[in-house]
Amino acid sequence: MAYFIIKGGKKLKGEIKISGAKNAALKILPAAILSSTPSTISNVPRIIDIVKMVEILRSIGTDITFENGVVKIDPSHITSSHPDEKLIKKLRGSIVLVGALLSKFGSAIISQPGGCLIGARPIDDHLDVFRQLGVKIKYNNGRYYLKGKPEAGEVTLSKMSVTATENAILASVLSRGTTRIHVAAAEPEIKDLADYLNKMGARISGAGTHDITIEGVQTLKGVEYSVMPDRIEAGTYLTIGVVTNSELTIGPVEISTLSIVLKKLEDVGAKFEVIHKNGADFIQTQTRGKLKAADIDTRTYPGFPTDLQSFYAVLMTQAEGRSRIFETIFEGRFSSIEELQLLRAKTLVLNPHEFVVDGPTKLIGTRISSKDIRGGASLVAAALTANGTTTIEDIEYIDRGYENIDTKLKAVGAEIERVGLIEE
Ligand code: EPZ
Repeated sequence: MAYFIIKGGKKLKGEIKISGAKNAALKILPAAILSSTPSTISNVPRIIDIVKMVEILRSIGTDITFENGVVKIDPSHITSSHPDEKLIKKLRGSIVLVGALLSKFGSAIISQPGGCLIGARPIDDHLDVFRQLGVKIKYNNGRYYLKGKPEAGEVTLSKMSVTATENAILASVLSRGTTRIHVAAAEPEIKDLADYLNKMGARISGAGTHDITIEGVQTLKGVEYSVMPDRIEAGTYLTIGVVTNSELTIGPVEISTLSIVLKKLEDVGAKFEVIHKNGADFIQTQTRGKLKAADIDTRTYPGFPTDLQSFYAVLMTQAEGRSRIFETIFEGRFSSIEELQLLRAKTLVLNPHEFVVDGPTKLIGTRISSKDIRGGASLVAAALTANGTTTIEDIEYIDRGYENIDTKLKAVGAEIERVGLIEE
């Protein structure tokens, strides 16, 4: 069991480099099995979820290496369409492997995936997508048995699910004919996946909008590809810079993927500048005046991202007034709220989708624990803001989604010590 010891109340200063996007890389790696020749994927973050995805791909016979942020994948010896179930249970994002396996083999066997404890997170929308593509599905003894090559046609999602959209794309790129996906999610990571597939020879248009068209092709070839920067990691350090009133330069990041986050932070009194250097965007946080409370509601892209909701809550503990946070995407995504209360934050959960924060409150360090990736990382932001020393337990959750968070923060002056080993 590893934990962080953080001494808060300090201003930070310096540059934080943003790694490749976890939620793009987790789909691009399985997509690589759709070609018969090797791919080289760079700018891949060394985080636990990626290490798990590498192991899952290896479990079906993929020759795969992961060194210095580069994943080399040779799919030519893959033998099975039944990935290791113990590994699948540990990684929710592994669900997109099903779409790739159906395209490649016309069959897949998968058990209910695992992941963070944020709501029920069923996979009914995924199964519904596959049924609309003509795939036969049987459920027996905790396993789904999927049979049949997906057939091109019209697919309508019952909600804008990110990974169900990605599964629809992966299941259609090799189908004969035209597939149209309606009510698609529009997250930037979906467009990154489509850009990689198109570079391999796929013919996908409209990714990043709510209507995607796919002209099926016969084969795809392996290519080199660099994963987009992680907008959620960038939003994480941006909030840390604002809440600790620090001067941080954060990037590279595709600034257009953070429009609403920048707008909401500006509205509550954050001060920052967007600069452009070495062909990329960077955000420079500046010292600010008082923060004032404002409400947010999380929405599918381009709305306020649910993955940054807990960071906004930490920020609102330092803002004047009451803010109401309406989490529309997941029910019960408030694991960090109870921990914030231990730090003396004034928060009140109204129902499984809403809570309020009253501020400003002086946070006082104590012993807390993380329960999921983003909630856990938001507790790091809170501990950096709090007076005194905070111990955060179960930091394996944070290591699932953040590459070297303690090293990156130490480099800008944070007093953060890791005790215990990184689980891999
Ligand atoms: C992706 O999860 C991300 N994960 C999540 O990031 C992110 O919070 C989420 O999208 C929303 O943006 C990856 O990309 C690996 P959804 P996903 O399907 O695709 C319900 C992080 O910390 N739903 O868009 O699993 C679901 O319960 C993670 O990086 C069904 O009901 O999310 C939720 O309420 C956390 N049935 C809503 O839809 C389904 O079959 C949106 O979920 C699928 C989803």
